[in-house]
Amino acid sequence: MKGIILAGGAGSRLYPLTLVASKQLQPVYDKPMVYYPLTVLIASGIQEICLISTPHDLPRFRQLLGDGSAWGIAIEYREQAKPEGIAQAFLIAESFIAGQPVALILGDNIFFGGDAFPRAVAAFRGGAAVFAYHVHDPQRYGVVEFDAAGRAISLEEKPAQPKSNYAVPGVYLYDENVVAYTKAQQPSPRGELEITDLNKEYLRRGQLAVHRLSRGFAWLDAGTSTSLHEASAYVQTIEKRQGIKIGCPEEAALHRNFLSLERFEALLARLPNCEYRDYLQSVAVEFRRTVRSSETP
Ligand code: G1P
Repeated sequence: MKGIILAGGAGSRLYPLTLVASKQLQPVYDKPMVYYPLTVLIASGIQEICLISTPHDLPRFRQLLGDGSAWGIAIEYREQAKPEGIAQAFLIAESFIAGQPVALILGDNIFFGGDAFPRAVAAFRGGAAVFAYHVHDPQRYGVVEFDAAGRAISLEEKPAQPKSNYAVPGVYLYDENVVAYTKAQQPSPRGELEITDLNKEYLRRGQLAVHRLSRGFAWLDAGTSTSLHEASAYVQTIEKRQGIKIGCPEEAALHRNFLSLERFEALLARLPNCEYRDYLQSVAVEFRRTVRSSETP
């Protein structure tokens, strides 16, 4: 499966932070925001990734992430000239998708906990798959309604009167029909190709799987200065307590065998002396220990 990170938008709710660097380049505690969705894709076993952003911000993303080869992945870049909807990503990335199944993740969605995404990617056989997460303010999101048997029966984008508390987070899996379905779509009244309309099309065809994310799972939004601060505080709390990092692409690449331990160590040797490097060093030590112990008869 291929992967797309959509990191567009004006980021106007974060003004003046976004005057110079886009929302997805802002720090969430100790890393740029885009590291978090990128790590989700890598941890799900996705190696070919296309990052979509504005013409203004794309050079910065290239500077930050390069072609991905240092992490054993391949990153391509495409421009979204105007913010004309999340589903527009499939038209922009048509040549990248090249008739393959594709995962889309929004560049400002931060997730932590469990293996729901890697499992859904591994189990994906066609149609589309989205997720559902219980929130207190569903009217801000795409909302999914379930029947008594737990089957998804409706989807609505930012409804004034939500039919449930289950919001659809910004991770979506689609089969090779996604480009054709998007081409057949009409823009919404706000002039955007809505991701919810695309999901409704799969639902109408009986081809939409909705996976509920469990209580132990964290989905954070970082679109306002308050939620950005809260996301940073959350990441800091977990990292400090557990001695692990959330959203570390190098670590995910090592664990997915996209990087050998030798390449991982060569990469960390090139980093400046900093806390991030110390962390990668500890990951290497632990990785060697685990691999050795699993080799012991
Ligand atoms: C978008 C989608 C919405 C989804 C949300 C997840 O909303 O339109 O369906 O629930 O992302 O973050 P937006 O962030 O554009 O308001």
